Amino acid sequence: MAIVFDESRKIFRLMTDNSEYQMKIDDIGLLIHSYYGRPTCDTDMTYQVLNVDRGFSGNLYENRSDRGRSIDVLPQEFSGCGVGDYRISSIGVVAKNGSRSCDLRYRSHEILDGKERIPGLPSVRAYDDQVDTLVVELEDKVIDLGVKLYYSVFQDKDVITRHTEFINYSDKKIHLEKAASAMLDIQFGSWDEIHFAGRHCMERQMSRNKLTQDIKVISSKRGMSSHHENPFVILCDHGATEEYGDCYGVMLMYSGNHKFEIEQDQAGAVRIVGGVNEENFSWCLEAGEHFHSPEMIMAYTHAGLSELSHIYHNIIRENVCDRKYMTIERPVLINNWEATYFDFNAEKIISIARDAAEMGVEMMVLDDGWFGKRDDDNSGLGDWFVNETKLEGGLKHLSEEINKLGMKFGLWFEPEMINEDSKLFQTHPDWALVDPDRHPTMARNQMVLDMSNPKVLNYLFDCISGILDDANISYIKWDFNRSISNVFSKNLPNKKQGEVSHRFVLGTYALLERLLEQYPNLMIEGCSGGGGRFDAGMLYYCPQIWTSDDTDAIERLEIQEGTSFGYPVSTMGSHVSASPNHQTGRSTPLNTRGIVAMSGTFGYELDVTKMSAEEKAEVKEQIKTFKKYYWLIQKGDYYRLEDKENSEIYKAWSFVSGDKAETLVNIVVKKVQANAKIKLIKLKGLDSEAIYELEGTDKRMSGAALMYGGFAINISNGDYPSEQLHFVKAQS
Ligand code: GLA
Repeated sequence: MAIVFDESRKIFRLMTDNSEYQMKIDDIGLLIHSYYGRPTCDTDMTYQVLNVDRGFSGNLYENRSDRGRSIDVLPQEFSGCGVGDYRISSIGVVAKNGSRSCDLRYRSHEILDGKERIPGLPSVRAYDDQVDTLVVELEDKVIDLGVKLYYSVFQDKDVITRHTEFINYSDKKIHLEKAASAMLDIQFGSWDEIHFAGRHCMERQMSRNKLTQDIKVISSKRGMSSHHENPFVILCDHGATEEYGDCYGVMLMYSGNHKFEIEQDQAGAVRIVGGVNEENFSWCLEAGEHFHSPEMIMAYTHAGLSELSHIYHNIIRENVCDRKYMTIERPVLINNWEATYFDFNAEKIISIARDAAEMGVEMMVLDDGWFGKRDDDNSGLGDWFVNETKLEGGLKHLSEEINKLGMKFGLWFEPEMINEDSKLFQTHPDWALVDPDRHPTMARNQMVLDMSNPKVLNYLFDCISGILDDANISYIKWDFNRSISNVFSKNLPNKKQGEVSHRFVLGTYALLERLLEQYPNLMIEGCSGGGGRFDAGMLYYCPQIWTSDDTDAIERLEIQEGTSFGYPVSTMGSHVSASPNHQTGRSTPLNTRGIVAMSGTFGYELDVTKMSAEEKAEVKEQIKTFKKYYWLIQKGDYYRLEDKENSEIYKAWSFVSGDKAETLVNIVVKKVQANAKIKLIKLKGLDSEAIYELEGTDKRMSGAALMYGGFAINISNGDYPSEQLHFVKAQS
């Protein structure tokens, strides 16, 4: 059993293969968090929870004669508000009489086989794996609010998922002003927080900072998870490395406004609370109503950052994304965006497809500009009908021509958006999210549709399904090209306006769900001006997401590496684009662009009709190489082969097959130097006693030699050179 309740000691033990999570119901019904770490051999860890009388930390009424027992000091599972815990609250409430207090005590619990879906939200899938769920219900008896804490234990994945359900048992309204998904209190240690910050064209840059006594906030209020701060945070031991040290991960499975607060308190203890951002949020719970928070994916390892990444990679590949992609090989694609931008017609698209097909590309994706009046990015969004002036014969004809080349056909949409200059806006101006009496804030000259309005969802479903029924379309690129502002739905009463941001996300999920139910073989790639909505919520529907609008191979090294801390390469859309690169103007060799793009879901995004015969031959070889290593890259264990001293000079990373029989090592030189030092790359994850042979040579080395001694390589000639090395276990 992964979940045990010990009635005599009143402790819950949640066990995965390599971690244990404990909590205890104390004598006044507080749910104490006592432990998350390596397995304890059945020890009640509350021996570590000592009573300490700290000045200005008050005592709940039942504990008034025991000044050492303060709710401001005790580690808990889910903090209330307004009753004396001055650290971060997990909940915010306003009761009918205006009271803002909530004192949460144990009410009941149950242990369930398996795991239910969260209504309206994506959640980690439990197939027939070893998954059990603990539901502990807390309550505030005064306002009659129930708070159910769900813990699903994925035993063999070393993951615990959490979410919270809020239930109004009273006959009066309760306003939820904050509704966290999970909280984690850690009493001891010296911690760094790692988060993944960035901007458009430079997403998910790892930022590691030592905690001090203050509150650190990682959040988005842009209506999407954002380029700027990803909903994934790591807490690691101050000394933790790739191979060593305690690490906790908290990843929110949500694509809207999120917030993580990390507080180191007066006693050095750390509290992390995460969930929907309470800014722009308030939820009116009428009598009997429920509210479900998004899910938090939590993991612990004592074995450093690589192991933490592997835990997330496994659960995302197998239980977040549709796991059919663990066995279906996804097509190598070519996208026309950087080849043509808005300037194309059917003939041009077919000519690109023809040349690409000859090189082995398997799918042609038609990007922005095929619909309505869309000759630039100022008009047309919302008018999802083909522009026959550009595409004579329509999408049916075009898809047939592409299919004749032996290729699949994919199409770009940006469903959640609307241009003022569109037929849709002329007919339904009330479908845009616009604050009454104000001009909307425009971005890329577009506004956002009210995805909380069922009529909007029906319109979009009808448009998209009409196109999918008409032409043979295997893939959709689902874009989202602005942050949301002016959040006001004309479809909801004033008192529900605080719900619009969250209802927007629920609407998007509902539309994706409906489309995938109707078209189970459709593959959707997520996108938001590159990687502005790269999160586990979108990955539930989209097995891959366009990682960044920055396709420069050298910048991609940092972007893809940052992304790799939480997300597997099988989710990272990555393309070879033109040189000089369109975002940076940098020139890089085709080989280097290929090696970087192969560490993702591989594709091309340039005008291949302009390539020389030599370049075309090289692309053909690249595709063969990618196909040869497809499963090693997609399913293998990914290692950052960091060399801190030389991180400005080169970057290396590898994939190791599950049976350790082979590894693919990639090295890209970022800075060329005259008379450069030899680079020493220490491989990881190999079988130390096995002998490996470097493919194409007769060089043989033990796994131990490659890992502890390292592999010496001398590449530094020319701009941005790179190499890919394949080591295979030798037969004898
Ligand atoms: C976004 C995407 C690009 C491209 C353009 C089209 O920026 O990230 O890949 O699809 O939109 O407008």
